[in-house]
Amino acid sequence: MTISKTASGKTASQSTVEKRLQIEHLLSATAQLQNQEIDGADVVKGLSETPKSLAPRYFYDDKGSQLFEQICELPEYYLTRTETAILQKCAGEIAQLTGESELVELGSGSSTKTRILLDAYQEIGYPLRYLPIDVSAGILESSARELLVDYPSLQVHALASTYELALARLAPTQLPSRTICFLGSTLGNLNSQECDRFFSQIADALQVGEYFLLGIDRQKPKHLLDAAYNDSQGVTAAFNLNILHHLNRRFDGNFDPSQFEHWAFYNESEHQIEMHLRSLRSQTVKLNALNLTIEFESGETILTEISRKFNLDAMQQELQTRGLKTLQIWSDPNQWFGLLLCQLQPPTS
Ligand code: AVJ
Repeated sequence: MTISKTASGKTASQSTVEKRLQIEHLLSATAQLQNQEIDGADVVKGLSETPKSLAPRYFYDDKGSQLFEQICELPEYYLTRTETAILQKCAGEIAQLTGESELVELGSGSSTKTRILLDAYQEIGYPLRYLPIDVSAGILESSARELLVDYPSLQVHALASTYELALARLAPTQLPSRTICFLGSTLGNLNSQECDRFFSQIADALQVGEYFLLGIDRQKPKHLLDAAYNDSQGVTAAFNLNILHHLNRRFDGNFDPSQFEHWAFYNESEHQIEMHLRSLRSQTVKLNALNLTIEFESGETILTEISRKFNLDAMQQELQTRGLKTLQIWSDPNQWFGLLLCQLQPPTS
């Protein structure tokens, strides 16, 4: 028999891991055809417009997901560490408030923070069901397998998918309730219009009485934010430039990443980090699979990410307009990060 072993040193038989694991690929070629969604259409659009832009989900090929894990460990990048500390303090309370609940996680990545919640549910003796959703299939599968080894009663149904597709396709929960988790302030990648649409998709995916757990980065002095997105080791720069490697591989392109540079700053009036790639010279790039030729002027930029920083009161109000009532808010001693547990209210007509 094959034995799986994780970093924790625990073992579990491969057959029980296999029985408790289900992986669905909503991004496979056939799945896309069925959904009439053409991969790369948004790349063509974003690179044809002025100013140029790319959707942040293209950061997360397997290499990009690894680089993001490295970012989370950087001294300047306080977000992950701060949210983790909040979760460690309040996970028991979250479990008590939600009761037996299936955990759906959008942008699960390595699922490190999920373990804190799973531990809290396990401690009360609740059944453990986890639905991680991520565009990076590699990291999705490897972290699901590690979790299954460490939690012998856990059931995992992983979805390799965008959030939108996955939310529209969630099967009814097998537990009394469901909690959709959106941690790490990934919400910050959405502009206010996209954010509003996203909240209504969340509300549509939940039954009345079910939960939404949201982690968001709060507004803070510019120097702290500028440092968090311009780390001294250059990991954020590598993460930003990796998007070009990803496009080359995925769409048969010839971007030369050495001819671009990382540029990120906090836009104080918009309360958002703006991350760009700046072309170091005038150049022409091709993405053959998309039949796309892109002209860059020297100094021209591609917006690769916005990362909005939020006000907790305003956020509660926005959630409320979509029927998501805040039950509880937690923060850290510096007030840098916020965690909100919301519950879907009955529609008011
Ligand atoms: C994963 C979107 C929350 O905005 O802080 C980290 C991504 N970009 N460093 C963020 C990111 C540059 C991150 N999110």
